[in-house]
Amino acid sequence: RQRFETQRSKTFGMIKPDCYNNIGKIIDIIYSKGLRISNLKMVRMTLTNARQFYAEHTGKPFFEDLTNFMSSDVVVGMELVAENAVPKWRELMGPTNPIAAKTDAPNTLRAIFGTQGTHNAVHGSDSATSANRELNFFFNLPNSPAVLNNCTCCII
Ligand code: PPS
Repeated sequence: RQRFETQRSKTFGMIKPDCYNNIGKIIDIIYSKGLRISNLKMVRMTLTNARQFYAEHTGKPFFEDLTNFMSSDVVVGMELVAENAVPKWRELMGPTNPIAAKTDAPNTLRAIFGTQGTHNAVHGSDSATSANRELNFFFNLPNSPAVLNNCTCCII
């Protein structure tokens, strides 16, 4: 009997600080689109962590805004598994600019959850090489608790 096996691969996805209160909805969408989560971690990155994570963008006009934002509150990093995981997750994320995404790709995560330039809800690796680097980087960060003092969504 012939067996057909699908070739699964991994990517790194991250829910950004503007969006971690939507973690449940995002995980539902991830599963409904056929991706699976094989590791997940919530971390508050330091500014140094964020600068290392986005090192390839050092010097670009958005670098300071991006790294300040990404270290402003917790993020949720996910190891995602699927056939063609990198393009599959990038397609589900949608275009970088969430305002453009709302008209050009309304069913994407950035269209649904993003609000403006920096606040575009999710990140995804752009290649298998980046995915390896980012998975290693993120899942080796020390655990750090969420800082909920200023969090308007968590009144407990
Ligand atoms: S580039 O120059 O084409 O490689 O940049 P790009 O891939 O579009 O974006 C790299 C990351 O920077 C974020 N980005 C921005 N942040 C804030 N403000 C502006 N204007 C801006 N433009 C791009 C973009 O969301 C990418 O971050 P990630 O986390 O990968 O989404």
